[in-house]
Amino acid sequence: MKPVQRLLIAGIVACAAAVPTLAHIEKTEPLQSLRQSYFALIGMSFGPMADMVKGKIEWDQAQFERWSSDLAAVASYSVERGFAPGSEEGRTRAKPDIWLNLDDFNERLAGLRAETAKLAEAAKTGDRAAIQAQLGATGKACKGCHDEYKAKDYLY
Ligand code: HEC
Repeated sequence: MKPVQRLLIAGIVACAAAVPTLAHIEKTEPLQSLRQSYFALIGMSFGPMADMVKGKIEWDQAQFERWSSDLAAVASYSVERGFAPGSEEGRTRAKPDIWLNLDDFNERLAGLRAETAKLAEAAKTGDRAAIQAQLGATGKACKGCHDEYKAKDYLY
């Protein structure tokens, strides 16, 4: 076998081996994976904006507008199906209380969508005080729901 062929085969084998680790979705817990992916994206979109408002990274108006519209778009995704009956089991930080208070939980999701939409609107104005206030209101929606319904550690 030529060295090039050997390299090619090694490459294919390496790719095949990498596939399961690339997949973030747990086959036995797809709904838990779905909602965790949603919140991971929410967190990673919100975090840099908070850093910008706090001055940890330099203010960049265009970047903030993009991030805030991304956050609103991500928040609008119908994550409700990730909380279908039975998905309270498994590797999750979602407290069982969610399934006893689904109306309240869903209202909080609606609140998250409303606050992130307002943040994207505020961002467009470029008014730093308004942006900061609305970032705070959005953060309150996160914290309010986490205090009630998200455990700090995995439950199982
Ligand atoms: C309606 C309730 C609710 C709101 C609002 C909410 N979260 Fe969460 N969040 C949860 C729940 C429940 C989990 C745990 C999901 C699980 O482990 O199955 C979670 C998990 C997370 C995680 C961990 C994701 C992972 O990798 O497993 C992050 C990060 C996060 N939320 C950030 C945020 C931020 C930032 C906001 C606000 C912009 C927010 N959340 C708003 C309920 C909420």
